[in-house]
Amino acid sequence: MNLCSHYQECPGCDYWGISYQEEKKLKIENLKNFLSHKFLNTESLNIQFHSLAGPTQIRDRVDLQWRKNIGWGYVHGPSSKLIPILKCLLMTEPLSQFYEFIKTINLPYEKASIRLRVSPKNEWGLWLDLPNNDIKDLLENQSPILDKLLSKSIVEIGQKRKRLIKNPDLIKYKLDKNPHWHNWFVTSNLQGKDLPLYSLVGGFTQVGFEINKILVIEVLKLIKKLKFKNNFELAESPIVELGAGIGNFTFGFLSEGYKVIAIENDPQALDALKFSLENHYYKFTTEKLKLSDQLKIVGWNFLKNEPPPFATSGILFVDPPRSGLGKFLENPIWKSDPSFEYIIYVSCSLESWKLDFEKLSEKNYDLKNISIVDQFSRSKNVELISVFQKSTAAIK
Ligand SMILES: C[S@@+](CC[C@H](N)C(=O)[O-])C[C@H]1O[C@@H](n2cnc3c(N)ncnc32)[C@H](O)[C@@H]1O
Repeated sequence: MNLCSHYQECPGCDYWGISYQEEKKLKIENLKNFLSHKFLNTESLNIQFHSLAGPTQIRDRVDLQWRKNIGWGYVHGPSSKLIPILKCLLMTEPLSQFYEFIKTINLPYEKASIRLRVSPKNEWGLWLDLPNNDIKDLLENQSPILDKLLSKSIVEIGQKRKRLIKNPDLIKYKLDKNPHWHNWFVTSNLQGKDLPLYSLVGGFTQVGFEINKILVIEVLKLIKKLKFKNNFELAESPIVELGAGIGNFTFGFLSEGYKVIAIENDPQALDALKFSLENHYYKFTTEKLKLSDQLKIVGWNFLKNEPPPFATSGILFVDPPRSGLGKFLENPIWKSDPSFEYIIYVSCSLESWKLDFEKLSEKNYDLKNISIVDQFSRSKNVELISVFQKSTAAIK
């Protein structure tokens, strides 16, 4: 096992110096201890662990920071100190090569943050965020830096992630306010076939192509195994998906022929999802499904205390941000009965998942299945897939 030269100081990892087998064991044990709870007998819980073959080379996108006189690296949260990083073993080889190039760039500014990603075709994407005054200076006075960046990568700049382009006079740079959707990510159908996803460099995606495939396929397998009460037909009722993002799970659901109501509140993610749909959806399927019957895309903030834009259904699928479902679990929808028979909950934060788990238990949902997909190898964080079922007594 390669030992990372930054492991003692870098905030990204917790588990260097132990084998991946040991790390897996620790993660399962830690999860069991964490879950021990009045609602849950963890002894009977068989926690599955899904991962790549090894813990390294998992990330096709990464977020780093720049500090003048220090360089590029990761920021240690509590101290805000930048830890300069020469090489991060979590990056896939194509991303590592991109980072080698980025390390040759010196910014004449105090601070900046960057997202780096490689596309499935190994194109390089950089989202650079820095204060407005520095952006102005960069565009007006730093053409050697911009020339160098644009010679190798696609660049977005600023909070709005505007694409950097060179004016036709080939002298001046400008930021285009129109989004440039690009095939930056890839999801999967149940058989492992790639389904292209369009987004911005700066948009949210899961961390890496291969581990994401494992995550999506695992969710699709779990849905296939669900048994419904009262002769409920999943094909007839849409999966309600909260936090659809650019369609990472949505397209997997569609490729299995399920109906979906995809809910998301980030306008850029919604537009990206629509772009993938319009440009590539018919390549995903062998038969041309009537899309308007199969998918509804809804811009809605699930934290708002207003009636949701859907009726209850067989499956609620949720992949919320780190803060979890929060106030959504107080929405009036939960007063209607029977509500969702199954809730499939993908979570990247154990803490908020546990709070939501308690609220779901109080609403008579039993935890039926829980598995780890190791998106955050070498760190204590885990990605969970959990399946809840409304208890038999609560189903009319
Ligand atoms: C962890 S990401 C998952 C995205 C997508 N499922 C994927 O796998 O790439 C969470 C998503 O929830 C969305 N989101 C966060 N808060 C939300 C809210 N209050 N209402 C609707 N969507 C929200 C985010 O914009 C983001 O796309």
